Amino acid sequence: MAPQDTASGARGEAPPRRLNIKINNKYYRIGPEISKDMPLIDFLREEVKLPGTKVLCREGGCGVCTVVATAPDPEHEGAHKTFGVNACQLLVYACAGWSIETVEYLGNRYDGYHTLQKALTGFYGTQCGYCSPGMIMTMYGQLKSSGSLTAAQVEESLDGNLCRCTGYRPILDAFKSLAEDGDQCLKDKLVDIEEANNAKCPKTGNVCKGKCESSKEDNESGCKNEQEDADPIEEEVEFTDGEIQWYRPLTLVGIKNALKKIRQDEKYCIVVGNTGQGVYKEDGPYTTYISTNAVKALYNVTIGEPLTLGANVSLSRAIEVFQHVANAYPNYRYLDALVRHWKLVANVSVRNTGSWAGNLMLKHKHPEFPSDIFLTLLAVDAQLTLIDADRTDTTQVDLETFLRTDMSKRLITSVILPPMAQGMQFRTYKITPRTVNAHAYVNACFKIKVDPDDGFKVTETPTIVYGGIHPDFIHAKQTESFLTGRSLMEVPTIINAAKVLGKEVKPDAKPQDASPQYRRSLAQSLLYKTIVSILGDKVSREITSAGTMLERPLSSGQQEFDMNSDMWPVGKAIPKVESATQISGEAVYLDDIPTLPGELHGAFVQTKYAKAKLKSTDASQALAVPGVVAYIAARDIPGRNTFYPGGVTDPVFVEEQVNYAGQAIGLIVAKDRETAVRAAKLVTVEYEDIEKPALTIDEAVKQGRDELAVNFATGKREAHSLGDVEEGFKKAKNKLEGELHQGSQFHLTMEAIAARVVPTEDGYDVFSTTQWPTQTQATVAEVLDIPAHSINVSVRRIGGGYGGKITRQHVVSSAAAVASRKLRCPVRIVVDLNTHMSLVGWREPYLSKYEVGFDDDGKFQALKVTMFSDAGHVPNESSVGFLAGPLQNAYYVPGLLFRPVIVRTDTAANTWCRTPGTVEALATIENIIEHIANYLKKDPMEVRLVNMVEPEVPRLMAPPLERNVIKDDILPLLKQKAMYEQRKEEVEAFNKANRWKKRGLSIVPLWYGYNYPSMFRYGIQVSIYEHDGTVAVTHGGIEMGQGINTKVAQVAAHTLDIPIEKVIIKASDTTVGANSIVTGGSFGTDICCHGTKVACEAIRKRIDAIKSEELKKDSEKEMSWEQLVKICHLRDVDLCERYWTAGKEHPHRYDIWAACCLEVEIDVLTGQYLLRRADIVEDCGKSMNPFVDIGQVEGAFVMGVGLYTSELVKFDVETGVKLSNGTWEYKPPTALDIPVDMRVTLLPNASNPYGVLNSKATGEPALCFSYVVVTALRHAIAAFRAENGNEDWFEMHTPLTVEKVQQLCGVRPEQFRLSRSDGETCPDDYQMVDKDDVPAVVGNDEESVSCSMN
Ligand SMILES: Cc1cc2nc3c(=O)[nH]c(=O)nc-3n(C[C@H](O)[C@H](O)[C@H](O)COP(=O)(O)OP(=O)(O)OC[C@H]3O[C@@H](n4cnc5c(N)ncnc54)[C@H](O)[C@@H]3O)c2cc1C
Ligand code: FES
Ligand code: FES
Repeated sequence: MAPQDTASGARGEAPPRRLNIKINNKYYRIGPEISKDMPLIDFLREEVKLPGTKVLCREGGCGVCTVVATAPDPEHEGAHKTFGVNACQLLVYACAGWSIETVEYLGNRYDGYHTLQKALTGFYGTQCGYCSPGMIMTMYGQLKSSGSLTAAQVEESLDGNLCRCTGYRPILDAFKSLAEDGDQCLKDKLVDIEEANNAKCPKTGNVCKGKCESSKEDNESGCKNEQEDADPIEEEVEFTDGEIQWYRPLTLVGIKNALKKIRQDEKYCIVVGNTGQGVYKEDGPYTTYISTNAVKALYNVTIGEPLTLGANVSLSRAIEVFQHVANAYPNYRYLDALVRHWKLVANVSVRNTGSWAGNLMLKHKHPEFPSDIFLTLLAVDAQLTLIDADRTDTTQVDLETFLRTDMSKRLITSVILPPMAQGMQFRTYKITPRTVNAHAYVNACFKIKVDPDDGFKVTETPTIVYGGIHPDFIHAKQTESFLTGRSLMEVPTIINAAKVLGKEVKPDAKPQDASPQYRRSLAQSLLYKTIVSILGDKVSREITSAGTMLERPLSSGQQEFDMNSDMWPVGKAIPKVESATQISGEAVYLDDIPTLPGELHGAFVQTKYAKAKLKSTDASQALAVPGVVAYIAARDIPGRNTFYPGGVTDPVFVEEQVNYAGQAIGLIVAKDRETAVRAAKLVTVEYEDIEKPALTIDEAVKQGRDELAVNFATGKREAHSLGDVEEGFKKAKNKLEGELHQGSQFHLTMEAIAARVVPTEDGYDVFSTTQWPTQTQATVAEVLDIPAHSINVSVRRIGGGYGGKITRQHVVSSAAAVASRKLRCPVRIVVDLNTHMSLVGWREPYLSKYEVGFDDDGKFQALKVTMFSDAGHVPNESSVGFLAGPLQNAYYVPGLLFRPVIVRTDTAANTWCRTPGTVEALATIENIIEHIANYLKKDPMEVRLVNMVEPEVPRLMAPPLERNVIKDDILPLLKQKAMYEQRKEEVEAFNKANRWKKRGLSIVPLWYGYNYPSMFRYGIQVSIYEHDGTVAVTHGGIEMGQGINTKVAQVAAHTLDIPIEKVIIKASDTTVGANSIVTGGSFGTDICCHGTKVACEAIRKRIDAIKSEELKKDSEKEMSWEQLVKICHLRDVDLCERYWTAGKEHPHRYDIWAACCLEVEIDVLTGQYLLRRADIVEDCGKSMNPFVDIGQVEGAFVMGVGLYTSELVKFDVETGVKLSNGTWEYKPPTALDIPVDMRVTLLPNASNPYGVLNSKATGEPALCFSYVVVTALRHAIAAFRAENGNEDWFEMHTPLTVEKVQQLCGVRPEQFRLSRSDGETCPDDYQMVDKDDVPAVVGNDEESVSCSMN
């Protein structure tokens, strides 16, 4: 869509029935050609052609689509407000009269970059870059709306932006360097970043001070606000195009009139922020939308007693008002609690547009929704005002009555919050699976009046309300009544109240929710927490920790590394070569490529059962949708129906037998993505022979679907062994056995898998988000049954890979190719997050079973381990056969038997995910060490040390070591840097002093055998241009964030001895990079750098020969690089070199060493935890680029933290449908989940004679030692259990969610005391906790709930 010529021409001149939106200072008039339900993101990307803003989840849960909006401030005539917002939620029609800024406008290569952009680049805050525009716009929105930035605001405002690559620390540092109160070191670094302080405001050309004020016309920074140009909303609008009605009334009467026009059977939606669709996607489609954001009355805020908020007041604005009122009015102090609570609702962008009334309506429509807004407003006795389209009067209802009120054609207009008597104790809680941007497991509010002078007697019926229990459960009435008149100082009151509560709280069992036993226990714990906090210093010192929540201080980071200046720019910490394009949105990802005329879009039709047969498929309804072009299915495939060339069949489209829920049945192809997605839902599929699927390793093993993996040493299906295992067991004085389940993990590339296939004169151009173009080419060739040379695959970059785009994306390329061939036009498939998560497999889940024999020092004597890997329905990518080496980690096991077993379940074929199997093997041995230590009552560190492997000792499937760098170098350094011994004592002292908060400190070492498989080969082409001596390199590897292009450019510049600015890296393709292998396993960067070095050396040799000859002719001759290149060209020297990194010239195998020390703190009552401090030392040889390497270390570590804590996968056990299929259910770490204090040291004075330019790889290893989060949590949990007399071993299957932590602690009402000595005077009606009653393995809700966890 073309912008209107001039901004000024917009007003008054706009034709009727069109709305104006200003985007990046240009006006766009929207009318009937734009669908009324089009989200802003699609308008920006598809109509305005601004692809800088990215899209992934379409749920408000990832933040990649953040833009900054300036809209009329309804509370202040003529003023405007600026805020960050998710463009995937906002409907474009609702933005009428608004001004939108996207990342392209903030700064770009032509106009210069904004300070925020420069800071993100300079601090190495981008890797794959897919999240970067969203990060920047979130911060820009914060900066513009508040006029300044503090470090706390930086952290708070990133609560909705996910990044899978960086581990967040550099992003936080980058933005904090601009904060008023930012650490001076960060500010100094910012100054060092080239020209950062002279970054120009792209709008004014003035120097930007990183500060914008929205309330002044020309602010101090010179950043002029353009909001005065925003189009005022002056008229009511009504669009009726036969399909969807859109109303934009200006008054309440206008809304009523619009409501009156709606037929009884029509589905309508009142649009405020439209964020509700992020939670309940299936509520639509609607035939009528009523946008109420021009109705000023709905934004009214009346401050005083009572406080009134209009229905459209956003959650962010409400928080501001609450803050102000709580400070100004003593009877509204309680609003402080609401501020804290509401800040935990959704994320900043959702809160900026989402209204409290919209939230209540979600609760109204979906009673199971654990609405925080409903619960908190209910607890404070708020009253809602409602109007009815057919009546003139208004109604006031309390929150519970509201739930029972028929809201059809009714509108909430305001809420009244009454004052609360001083002395009333008010507490609210929200316990979530992740620190922020997560819905509650359970939320609760307590309003209790007590008489402190009378033993804290409860003087009137308290209010105790819960969410997340049961759709019909709100008030804990029996507990309220039990507590009335009783003294909170009396332990029996507390314990019996908790027991009464335990009886009346009956959580429902829903597959996607936490277990009922946890939610009940949480309800009880929160009651106890409330009572302890009310009693304050009346409880004994060690009990006070029950009354508080974990407080997360501002985070910080430290990085130490050698600057190896002898080979610069190799060794120099420089930003990514493409970071400038990433931070401005100019970097092109697959879906940013403009569509060709006639290009079509595909959307998958997926199975809803895991184990069934297809009976029939009927696409007629879908094909009848205007814009739908075709339905493509298995019968349309001319070649092999598999997206795995040569290997085991994994069908592109199901023919008859369904292998997993989510598998593709067919593809609807339509003129646009939205139509295709909508129509795909209309395809009806009938199934037969439906069976209950096997979804877990245990179930599949029971069905005999397991087989031993091939032993690579012998080529047979047999176990791997070292030494005499049976003899070792005979000698061993101590023996233990146990097992460990480790769950799956979604790669969560922020760019989903996608493909675009364009027919050409010689075949097809395939654009794919692939880590392996060669295999994409082969797959498409087989599927289409055409020669490989007809298929040209090219990849500029991908938005994250982590193994998830090695083979799994072939399904998308194959489907697009089949459609393109059949329809003879370009076809693009960009799947949404839900589809991505269900269409393909993830990290393999593992089960390890072990028997170990050891002496009294804890020294291994014999070990038998069977590791079962859940390969999914086909075992093409199982890693389990490679794990004998990693299983030994840095230890020596004299007698070892390792059985790798592949198990097939009725799930999507699982695939490699960053350190596949290696991390699970390391976790297995570390778990065994912990088990031994527990048995011998030793410090696990002692057991680790006693087992350290010595040099030259034989190892299973790994060569003997030259040195044990862990023992000799890394552990001494780490212990000293982390002050391990001192902090160990401090942790013990803390645990003694605090009954309900426990800390754990642990160190996990890592040996990582880095062995180049011989199949890892890449084609590299270096081309020097005679025109100006600039250099282009293309390599067979894929840039996916890991920094391959940056390191290759550094190596080329170093080897050719030219400035790095002369080198550019081009896209990878299957012509120059023909036959190159996958980029993965941390091999790609090393080998491509090696190949670049060899190719550059070859050219350099030719150039140097000419140079010598020239100098022979004239020894005084001075030749610049450019002149030399020209001379070479004139003398017919080939300035290009292609190198194939085959054979002996590969770098040698080598060892990577690292260790991490982590301290955690848990809140026993809730299970929540805080990673207090992580110290990491990793040996990466002579780092080629410390920025890149530290980025890899931190990113991998945080991804591992997610694997082991919050990233839980759940299935529906009856159908096999993956329930964790979006941001609402699946929780990777956010910026507020990383270690509060994160210190990374690259081992000093390190080198590596076997690596490329003495370096070592960094992409994967750090994920392995993230298992330290489990061992540290184990120590904290064990500390609590030990206090209850239970020092027994307990198994800790991962992920270790908040739920599991609490359940493993074994919290019981009987423990709810006011001092340690209370136990001695226990009344008969409660018991001391019996250690046998503490569940050994809990949190696995398979038995009680109809779900399973992998
Ligand atoms: C990523 C994400 C995370 C979230 N996390 C949480 C959370 O942790 N806790 C929590 O409680 N909530 C959470 N939410 C819900 C969020 O608070 C709501 O989506 C938001 O408040 C809805 O406001 P809205 O203005 O966008 O409503 P809309 O989406 O515009 O409307 C929602 C519904 O309300 C109706 N409606 C709107 N206004 C009125 C009115 N005045 N009268 C009658 N009907 C009306 C609409 O017709 C529609 O059916 C989350 C949402 C998202 C997207
Ligand atoms: S795409 Fe909008 S928040 Fe994820
Ligand atoms: S850089 Fe953040 S997701 Fe890749």
